[in-house]
Amino acid sequence: MNALTEHPQTSRLTAAAPSPLLDVDGVSLEYRTRERIVQATHQVSFAVDPADRFILLGPSGCGKSTLLKAVAGFLSPQEGEIRLAGQRIDGPGADRIVVFQEFDQLLPWKTVKQNVMFPLLASRSVGKAEAEERARLYLDKVGLSGFVDAYPHTLSGGMKARVAIARALAMQPKILLMDEPFAALDALTRRKMQEELLELWEDVKFTLLFVTHSIEEALIVGNRILLLSSHPGRVRAEINSAQFDMHSSGSVTFQSTAQRIHRLLFNEQAPDVVADHDFHAVRLSY
Ligand SMILES: Nc1ncnc2c1ncn2[C@@H]1O[C@H](COP(=O)(O)OP(=O)(O)OP(=O)(O)O)[C@@H](O)[C@H]1O
Ligand SMILES: [Mg+2]
Repeated sequence: MNALTEHPQTSRLTAAAPSPLLDVDGVSLEYRTRERIVQATHQVSFAVDPADRFILLGPSGCGKSTLLKAVAGFLSPQEGEIRLAGQRIDGPGADRIVVFQEFDQLLPWKTVKQNVMFPLLASRSVGKAEAEERARLYLDKVGLSGFVDAYPHTLSGGMKARVAIARALAMQPKILLMDEPFAALDALTRRKMQEELLELWEDVKFTLLFVTHSIEEALIVGNRILLLSSHPGRVRAEINSAQFDMHSSGSVTFQSTAQRIHRLLFNEQAPDVVADHDFHAVRLSY
């Protein structure tokens, strides 16, 4: 019943598995300014399979957003490679859509429906009729069919989050990238959004790469969690969290797994996870 983990060195266990949808392979990322070089991640490897809800979890500054930006194609690795469906990522593309924390990412002069249609039309993915149909479909899926003609400033934070999610899913990306999408919401709305995201996933079965620094959110939203050490981010462990959902947060297993993650994240001196016999290689458990 324990959460399961994989040490970076054991990632070869994945070698025999069918090729993943997203393959992050030994990726080091850095920012170069005139004064200095900041190394954000060091040789990070992980693999996301179709329909995974894969979480990047780690302390502030460990490079989670930087990794997401690299997967989105906004940054190139200094070392290693990122592949999507076997193709090396070398720039942004409509097959990867990012939902950020700030809901002001919606265009204020466009209605809800127009906001959802905008990237579909701008990327010339589909024609106007198809864009409108998809906008209605995904707005319906996030419970906003009554607000298609509303403007963003008339919506609550949770509703703006739903529009941003509908807009991303309407693009039907190969992978949806979310960077702390609910962090700006109050606790109750955040919980509701986590629940709705899981329901949406049950419906659409999209592939999700989700960044958070909340252990509880990671366990609820994800089926797999990659733990990153503090700056520069290195892979500390991978946890299988498929057994947890909205209703398990009070359970003993949930709490003990959360505590264990906490120790791994914040006790950098802890012995290597691979030496912990309660943990097993996650990929073997599928
Ligand atoms: N544009 C930038 N220029 C220089 N350094 C940067 C830039 N953006 C991020 N960094 C640095 O890279 C490291 C990783 O940053 P990143 O934003 O990826 O962390 P994070 O894990 O997302 O943190 P948080 O949980 O606070 O969002 C940090 O040390 C940060 O200071
Ligand atoms: Mg961040």
